[in-house]
Amino acid sequence: MAEPMPILRPATAQDVPAMVAIYNQSVAVNTASWDTEPQTVPERRAWFEERSAAGQAILIAEVAGRVVGWASWGPFRGKAGYRMTREDTLYVDESARGLGVGRLLLGGLVSTAREAGVHVLMAAVSHENDVSIALHEKLGFVEVGRLPQAGAKFGRWLDLVLLQLTLDDRPLP
Ligand SMILES: CC(C)(COP(=O)(O)OP(=O)(O)OC[C@H]1O[C@@H](n2cnc3c(N)ncnc32)[C@H](O)[C@@H]1OP(=O)(O)O)[C@@H](O)C(=O)NCCC(=O)NCCS
Repeated sequence: MAEPMPILRPATAQDVPAMVAIYNQSVAVNTASWDTEPQTVPERRAWFEERSAAGQAILIAEVAGRVVGWASWGPFRGKAGYRMTREDTLYVDESARGLGVGRLLLGGLVSTAREAGVHVLMAAVSHENDVSIALHEKLGFVEVGRLPQAGAKFGRWLDLVLLQLTLDDRPLP
């Protein structure tokens, strides 16, 4: 029997534990996240409440009622001049990777960012993360910078790859 298709929906506070579990899979074994310690549910809950209150997108991909991935956009840098620029983040459960869930989530993020009037969407990705770089480029992101040895994890240097998607060409409001 064919796998049911993933659906995309806004996240709710009840999704936070599942989001943390998926995120911590990456903290432990890869350089997608540059955290070195697992995240806690209260930490992610605080993040969730802050982003929700600010109207920033948090999306869930779900298959047959199970959370298989999540994605969000939020601040790129804190100063007011960056208010039209946002940075994305996305994580897919290891059991559901390579099945189109990441593409669905990132497509949803781009749509919500466009609807919210975001001008530039950024991604900051480890140079080791070929899958994420390829996914972003498939959705139109362009590499605009590489910061050599900007980080370190598992005893090795990490370069930070910056990818950018400019969402519109309207004049500055
Ligand atoms: C990166 C990640 C979000 C991609 O999501 P995914 O659901 O696995 O990816 P998809 O199945 O939607 O594939 C999207 C594209 O990625 C590429 N891709 C996917 N799996 C790949 C693999 N194993 N090797 C190479 N490229 C791959 C393909 O180009 C694919 O395009 P296609 O649909 O035209 O074939 C997911 O693998 C993940 O969560 N990884 C760990 C956490 C992470 O890296 N997060 C991103 C931090 S910046």
